[in-house]
Amino acid sequence: MNPTTDDLADLAFWTQPPQVRLAAFARLRELPEPRFFAERRVPLLRSGTGFHALVRHADVVEASRRPTVFSSEPSVSSPQPPGWVRHVFGEAMVDMDDPRHARLRRIVARAFTPRMLAKTEEDLRRTAAEIVDDVLARRPRDFVAAVAARLPIAVICDMMGIPGELRSEVHRHVDTSTEYSGVRSDVLRALRMGVRNASALMSLQRLVIRLGRRRRDEPSDDLVSALVHANVDGERLTARELGSFFTLLLVAGNETTRNAIAHGLHLLSVHPEQRELLLSDYDRHIPTAVEEIVRHATPIMQFRRTVTEDCDLNGHAFRRGDRVALLYVSANRDGSVFTAPDAFDITRSPNPHVGFGGPGPHFCLGAHLARREITVIFRELFTRLPGIRAVGEPEHPPSNFDNGVRRLGFDF
Ligand code: HEM
Repeated sequence: MNPTTDDLADLAFWTQPPQVRLAAFARLRELPEPRFFAERRVPLLRSGTGFHALVRHADVVEASRRPTVFSSEPSVSSPQPPGWVRHVFGEAMVDMDDPRHARLRRIVARAFTPRMLAKTEEDLRRTAAEIVDDVLARRPRDFVAAVAARLPIAVICDMMGIPGELRSEVHRHVDTSTEYSGVRSDVLRALRMGVRNASALMSLQRLVIRLGRRRRDEPSDDLVSALVHANVDGERLTARELGSFFTLLLVAGNETTRNAIAHGLHLLSVHPEQRELLLSDYDRHIPTAVEEIVRHATPIMQFRRTVTEDCDLNGHAFRRGDRVALLYVSANRDGSVFTAPDAFDITRSPNPHVGFGGPGPHFCLGAHLARREITVIFRELFTRLPGIRAVGEPEHPPSNFDNGVRRLGFDF
């Protein structure tokens, strides 16, 4: 057996089994200070010299609450991408501070108004029913491809108003753009994957920019039309901002929700007593069950911040220019906040997890939508396929960012 490592900057850390990583986080939480991890610079792919790991719940919450000191600029990605990526793709609002971030968030929040969400809910129910129709007709073996991967992308396309004839193109580019998962040992392979990934993202941006132009001339009742037309305050997205927003939605709202759904089926299968409890009164238990799935799975394991001035965080001194990693995956298992943190308890309440980010201006814009997606798909599955359960262990792709599930066998 290979020796284990506690070095969060080493890709080997993220390929270890989840229980080995969780034990390492527990040790890091016991240290008096956040530990520093040095990072190698990789030309063209990665800049930066290292980061302090914020592993305790209190530290993640506190840094999220102080966005002017713990800045999202120039990037929250881990490792930090080189400057050329921002020049090519434009900046996403997740990588911006206020006031630029606040302006964009105000505009795109139109996607998440009660009216828009009510419309999305109808599409969501229809898509969930179609997915289960297909499962019954084809009897597929992989839950990720057959169910978890299909719903979130369909919901985002419905929201944006992507016409039917463009959807297979969107699916193709999204599949290519997510092949590169953030940790690779072989630099040449990483570069090749990075180029494929980048060109897929550019194709997605071009596709939505073309659609935006069409909708500016012939508006329709969809989000792209709403975003490219000025509202009462005269605010609207430029073509480049529209492109960045679409790719942000596809990155932020697609893999995350798909992984939450896949982890959800696995968790409810390996904890049959929790599944039984959920099914005994679905409407009563599903709201807390969804929060517990997101806490336990933590689909996004970390985001970064850059320190803008010398400061103190819960007694730890940081210097201007330091980088910190907000390790949601560790904060969500902090025993000083969660009783029996490794247990999967669908009745856990309160459940102040940071799976959707800490409290602050970047708190997940799609949290409500993600909760609805998980609620609707499990209702449809458990109603029409009452025997559904995961078979075998989930396959996890190597990543220091997504707690991904590449494949999950299932039966019903
Ligand atoms: C279980 C599913 C999801 C998880 C775990 C998740 C997690 C997160 C986290 C941790 C952040 C915080 C980023 C930060 O603080 O820097 C975030 C932000 C964001 N999420 Fe989600 N997300 C999910 C689903 C969605 C969905 C369905 C959408 C939209 C379709 C979405 C859109 C966004 C956007 C636009 C942001 C950036 C907000 C901002 O910078 O103001 N997310 N998400």
